[in-house]
Amino acid sequence: MRKIILAVAFCLLSLWVQAQETHTLDISLKKAGAPIQSTMYGIFFEDINYAADGGLYAELVKNRSFEFPCDALQGWKAFGKVEVKADGPFERNPHYVRLQDPGHPARWTGLDNEGFFGIGVREGETYRFSVWARVPDGGESQLRIELVNTASMGEDHFLCQEELTVSGNEWNKYTLTLSPDSTLDKAVLRIFLTGKRNTVDLEHVSLFPTDTWMGHENGLRKDLAKALADLKPGIFRFPGGCIVEGADLATRYQWKNTVGPVENRPLNENRWEYSFPYRFYPDYYQSGGLGFFEFFQLSEEIGAEPLPILSCGLACQFQNEDESAHCPVDQLEPFIQDALDLIEFANGPVDSPWGKVRAQMGHPAPFNLKFLGIGNEQWGETFPAHLEPFVKSIRSAYPDIKLVGSSGPYSDGEQFDYLWSEMKRLGADLVDEHYYQSEEWFLSHAGRYDTYSRKGPKVFAGEYACHAKGKKWNHFYASLLEAAFMTGLERNADVVHMATYAPLFAHVEGWQWRPDLIWYDNLRSFRTVSWHVQQLYGQYRGSHCLKLTMDGANVTGAEGQDGLFASAVLDGNKIYVKVVNTTDKEQELSLNFTGLKKKAVVKAVEGVRLSSCACKLDKDNSLDAPALFEPAPFTFEGEGKCLSAAAPAYSFNIYILEK
Ligand code: AHR
Repeated sequence: MRKIILAVAFCLLSLWVQAQETHTLDISLKKAGAPIQSTMYGIFFEDINYAADGGLYAELVKNRSFEFPCDALQGWKAFGKVEVKADGPFERNPHYVRLQDPGHPARWTGLDNEGFFGIGVREGETYRFSVWARVPDGGESQLRIELVNTASMGEDHFLCQEELTVSGNEWNKYTLTLSPDSTLDKAVLRIFLTGKRNTVDLEHVSLFPTDTWMGHENGLRKDLAKALADLKPGIFRFPGGCIVEGADLATRYQWKNTVGPVENRPLNENRWEYSFPYRFYPDYYQSGGLGFFEFFQLSEEIGAEPLPILSCGLACQFQNEDESAHCPVDQLEPFIQDALDLIEFANGPVDSPWGKVRAQMGHPAPFNLKFLGIGNEQWGETFPAHLEPFVKSIRSAYPDIKLVGSSGPYSDGEQFDYLWSEMKRLGADLVDEHYYQSEEWFLSHAGRYDTYSRKGPKVFAGEYACHAKGKKWNHFYASLLEAAFMTGLERNADVVHMATYAPLFAHVEGWQWRPDLIWYDNLRSFRTVSWHVQQLYGQYRGSHCLKLTMDGANVTGAEGQDGLFASAVLDGNKIYVKVVNTTDKEQELSLNFTGLKKKAVVKAVEGVRLSSCACKLDKDNSLDAPALFEPAPFTFEGEGKCLSAAAPAYSFNIYILEK
């Protein structure tokens, strides 16, 4: 009997303890709060970690125009008699190769291209090979084009072979289709001079999968572009990042060099080529094949507003301390003209000079550019001084374009405060803030925007990611803290109008910076937990904020809130309540809806959850296990003004309700 009494007392005690630990989230439905901008969650693209050539851009040939500056044949292996010449048909890419008879019947002339960490090809798929060629002496020349597996132990190396006849001494484009008979991530493209071995000149040697994103010839890798579309992004920032500024002004990103025929887009050094000597890639260049037209087109196809960022005339200040590296303010005219011309390229009529270029590229309709950023991570008095003339000129020619300024590379401090006040003075519409910060920072900053001024520029959280000390790689816990922090973005949607995680892409063999959102090799890719966090916020963005509090306070993981973070939004008659539990124990919740009419109730529909056990907190998805972590639906039931819910340990939960 004593035992029974003790057991009952113990049960009652644990129920009481549990009841004590139930956290009540008060969600007011009295009135919808601030609208959430369609641009709220988006994408930051920068060509870092082989994100463009070797990544999203589906071109498989490296150094296709023989323009790499240290060695015109970098990426190529020449055999027999191959000569590099420099008077080719494309004035901005003048180099080409001349293949000649090697002078002995048993010898061969030709070229191998190694691709980007190899060339990934799949059995059953087709590949479009193209080349500009001529026979300088007239007549015909025979080529054999092959995809080969140089590591094969078989009788031959071929995955496929095709013959190509080049005729006449005029430059022409030739194409053929290659159909490999097996799948290989590191194939080599081989070009043989065959037949009578008549001299032939080759330029712009290109190989694309036929099946690109949306079938564009100068296309994008389908799995990677789809990973962007699936985010349901509202804003698409390009082309970076520091790459906008360049290691010096000469190598800054110049959008005019990235439009028009791809053959004549000049090569540019990649600013990330020299940044990290401990992960050094001496062959990291930008072909410009993925250029501003392609960025605008992709924005349109994935439903995101384009947000180009242009150089303000300051070279990367991290890499250039000397004033002379930058353009003096009184000589900024060409930089400002680039900005004005870009707006015309995007929005101008087809008979305007730059609108015509867009139309000739296949898009007569305007791209409807609404936002433009000037400058990336700039600082000091020099930045506002450089920005001011841009603002004046753009405002006077295009008063409707919303201008994005910057608060520099730091998330707070003297420079940050100074630049914010300068952005206000200059009347920037948005200020680009960057924070690659620690776990502690993300845990303690969900209230960052609760006290921001509601007057003046809006916030563009343009680059952010949780970088855990000693664990600077993708892992679940860091992503969970991003989800926690993002409740604070959502709650403050009246001041935060855009947010983009950074960086976006990384090739597993070519990365220099991590964590990143999406990883890939030559054939496979995977979406990280951070990708899923971004996707869930994009999918359950909602249209208006709802006030959500615990004991009258915002739920920011503050003391007494047991590591909980929460926010809520309205979407028509749907309500999405987001709760992040950053602790190792399950937490009981009571979702208490206030402001309802007397007889009105809310009804639980379902839940979606991203969670991990404690033992996998430092793991993420990978090429071999791409779905180790994925959001899963869970049953969430009930009807009334107050509903019970549970938030398991280490979980990001979205409770979906109807009113
Ligand atoms: O995202 C990588 C880099 O981080 C960006 O290029 C730069 O803006 C920031 O410093």
